[in-house]
Amino acid sequence: MLLSKANMAATKINNLTVIGAGLMGSGISQVSANANINVTIVDSNQKALEKSQKGIESSLKRVAKKKFANDEAAQSNLVKSVLDRIRVSTNVGDSVENADLVIEAIVENIEIKQKLFAEVEDATKKSTIIATNTSSLRLQDIGKNLKDKTRFGGLHFFNPVPMMKLLEVVKHPETSDATFKTLMAYGKAVGKTTVACKDTPGFIVNRLLVPYSFEAFGLFERGDASMEDIDIAMKLGTGYPMGPFELADYVGLDTMKFIMDGWKQQYPNDPSFKESKLLNKLVKEGKFGRKSGEGFFKY
Ligand code: 3HC
Repeated sequence: MLLSKANMAATKINNLTVIGAGLMGSGISQVSANANINVTIVDSNQKALEKSQKGIESSLKRVAKKKFANDEAAQSNLVKSVLDRIRVSTNVGDSVENADLVIEAIVENIEIKQKLFAEVEDATKKSTIIATNTSSLRLQDIGKNLKDKTRFGGLHFFNPVPMMKLLEVVKHPETSDATFKTLMAYGKAVGKTTVACKDTPGFIVNRLLVPYSFEAFGLFERGDASMEDIDIAMKLGTGYPMGPFELADYVGLDTMKFIMDGWKQQYPNDPSFKESKLLNKLVKEGKFGRKSGEGFFKY
């Protein structure tokens, strides 16, 4: 008997290729390898791959230390076994041909993503699921040139990936039910709590978090409260782990600006998408937050 699409079982992901060896790509690779998935990380930059491997190793050591507090042998076993499941490559075509799932985590540039997806689609098996970790772009735009959009969807992770428990699973109008089910099952397999969202700007978290952050920037720019007090207020008044300024420095001021600028351009009449003169100035000065040593605060 034929199963209807909606009742199809989720495909188990054994081989994953992550494209982009930045912070997000590294974190996604780490949690996936930790869930017994064979991972290939691809990046055109060999140095970025080396940095990614080092970052994964030090994050794994933190995880292992917590998991096996007084057992150094178990700690190093965990680190080694996870690292052994990760290989790196500079070649997209070779790295995706056996993948059950490909996750793209490269720069937020629509043309570069479209070009990459065309290359990935041609090099993969017909059953391979292709996903994007975009934080602000529309799946409909990223996947515009895909011949088969049924196997395309969104997996939006949060930074730091090993610690943040949430995964947004995004379904655009042509994502098949089978693809969506597999993406949800993959999320659970890597230890995340999954939530479903349609292809809407910022999905759930960034749609709420980014305008909220810009409200906070405005509060400070108008002289209504200090950055420190706004951060304390949101931490102690709402239980957020970081205040909006601390978090913006953590995420990257360039990223915050990029997300908002894109939305403002696409939805000029939506009042929740605003500008921050202070943020523009800091980004112009190369003050991107923690990663550059200075943002709203100095590090
Ligand atoms: N890998 C492994 N473990 C890590 C880690 C990492 N990268 N980062 C932190 N940890 C662990 C530490 O080992 C520590 O463990 P312990 O409690 O057993 O010692 C624990 O996390 C706490 O770390 P710290 O003591 O260094 O610092 P904090 O208590 O402040 O926690 C934090 C750090 C988990 C980052 C916490 O501050 C937090 O949750 N902040 C909010 C982060 C957030 O909101 N992220 C979402 C951003 S939006 C986004 O990503 C979307 C994108 O599209 C823009």
